[in-house]
Amino acid sequence: MDIRVSLFLLRILIASFLLGSCQFKAQQIFNQEIEENIKLESTLLGVSVVADSLSVPWELVWGPDDWIWVTEERGYVTRINPVNGEKKVILRLPIGKRPEGAQAMIVHPDQKQYPYVYIHYKRVKSDGIRYNILERYTYQNDTLVHPKLLLEYVAGRGHTGSRLAFQGKERILWATGDQAIKEDTQDLSSANGKILRMDLEGNIPDDNPFPRSYVYAFGFRNMQGMVVTPQGAIYTSEHGDATDDEVNLIVPKGNYGYPSIEGMVDNDIEREFALKNNTIEPLVAWTPTIAPAGLDYYSSEKIPEWTNSLLLTMLKGQGLRVLTLDKTGKRIEREEVFLEKLYGRIRDLCISPAGDIYIATSNHDWNPMTSPSERDDRILRIARVNSAVKTPLTAKSRAEETISENSGEIIYQKFCFSCHKAKGAGLEGIYPALADSKVVRDKEKLLHILLEGSSAGDYAMPSFKFLKDEELFEIINYVRTSFGNKADSLSNSEIVSYRNQKR
Ligand code: HEC
Repeated sequence: MDIRVSLFLLRILIASFLLGSCQFKAQQIFNQEIEENIKLESTLLGVSVVADSLSVPWELVWGPDDWIWVTEERGYVTRINPVNGEKKVILRLPIGKRPEGAQAMIVHPDQKQYPYVYIHYKRVKSDGIRYNILERYTYQNDTLVHPKLLLEYVAGRGHTGSRLAFQGKERILWATGDQAIKEDTQDLSSANGKILRMDLEGNIPDDNPFPRSYVYAFGFRNMQGMVVTPQGAIYTSEHGDATDDEVNLIVPKGNYGYPSIEGMVDNDIEREFALKNNTIEPLVAWTPTIAPAGLDYYSSEKIPEWTNSLLLTMLKGQGLRVLTLDKTGKRIEREEVFLEKLYGRIRDLCISPAGDIYIATSNHDWNPMTSPSERDDRILRIARVNSAVKTPLTAKSRAEETISENSGEIIYQKFCFSCHKAKGAGLEGIYPALADSKVVRDKEKLLHILLEGSSAGDYAMPSFKFLKDEELFEIINYVRTSFGNKADSLSNSEIVSYRNQKR
């Protein structure tokens, strides 16, 4: 190339760089991190990594300091700068190994008047018993000090919820799990399977619906999401057993029916219980289950398609679900799924005042579904962008997500995979392998465990009674002929007669 031409080009290059440098730099910081784009009707979104190398972030809170406050299961409370990902660990809780761990947290939005942070965690105490502990900390000099115990009670091995939320400035709601003791959820003297309500000091307020009781609402299985909207509506998300995950709209004194009612009231036993106990149906229920977790309300206009929606993260469903509410907030008008199976399990989210959404992966938790990526667990930002770096992803509707085909393999994916895993390998010490299993080879035993479930061990196998005869036929014969199993097939009539004999 002629030297003059190249000098000329160089000059243009320098000039354009100087001219555009400010704008260029600002965009680059943001754009270089965009990993995926999402296209809504008229809004383009970008997904970028804000922080990585976390271990099961359970709670994400947008703090009054404009940082993201996070609990990690291992007991850390960390503040994370959403702009550059800088992390500051401000508390290390004295917890042991799973199933202990830090879970729900709320940071009082008015730190000047109430410099408080509330945390729920599980810990084995010196008596050898595992407790659910709710403590209040004071935020001072960038650490959390002066723990005050508000409430503690015995924890189960699983189903410990949980979420916390402020109701106004001076009330706290605590959504608990049933601790795998179903009966407790209808027992008002037990803290299990409840929404508990207290004041900022942990006392029972005079205006609680049941006098001298923490209970605000009851009859829940395992809630992992709760939000109070600016209008004061309370929504929760809840894990069902083998069927019927739910989102509920909470009213004081409400009975949400578990364990007698799962999902909608749709059989005679449930109808009878509902009539007697004046129970409340969920806004929506999901079978196959999706393992709904963090729940937040999107009030911003930044992403207009999502204004007045509930945003719900999913563990088993591995993505973000957007539930658009109607004007009354009592009905869901539209349901869409985003980022399905792209980042693995998603445990929680928070929304910034600017209307950006932050979600956290949970790929290092006790029930992994994919092998964690090198950078897991991550916090990702979903925010409006001007241009796409990739062919944008679009929403899936509920119908598209639910696979209607009835083959054994698909039934396995829908109903068995979350526990028994790929190739029927199981999870050591928790879920038995279905490869080379005596129970799989034994027709009677296999039918029995599928129809009755089993809680002989520490972890329970739910009953799959609700499957139709054809579906049972497909799943039984799939399991008996997969994962290296070479058992003969059961006929449809064998299944029907086994069922009839048990009726
Ligand atoms: C929520 C987790 C979970 C789901 C979902 C689940 N199982 Fe299980 N399964 C278990 C647990 C836990 C056990 C052990 C139960 C026990 O020993 O009491 C088990 C045991 C079994 C056994 C006996 C294995 C042995 O060798 O002892 C079979 C067979 C089985 N499950 C099949 C299935 C099939 C088929 C499905 C899907 C239709 C399914 N399971 C769904 C948790 C689950």
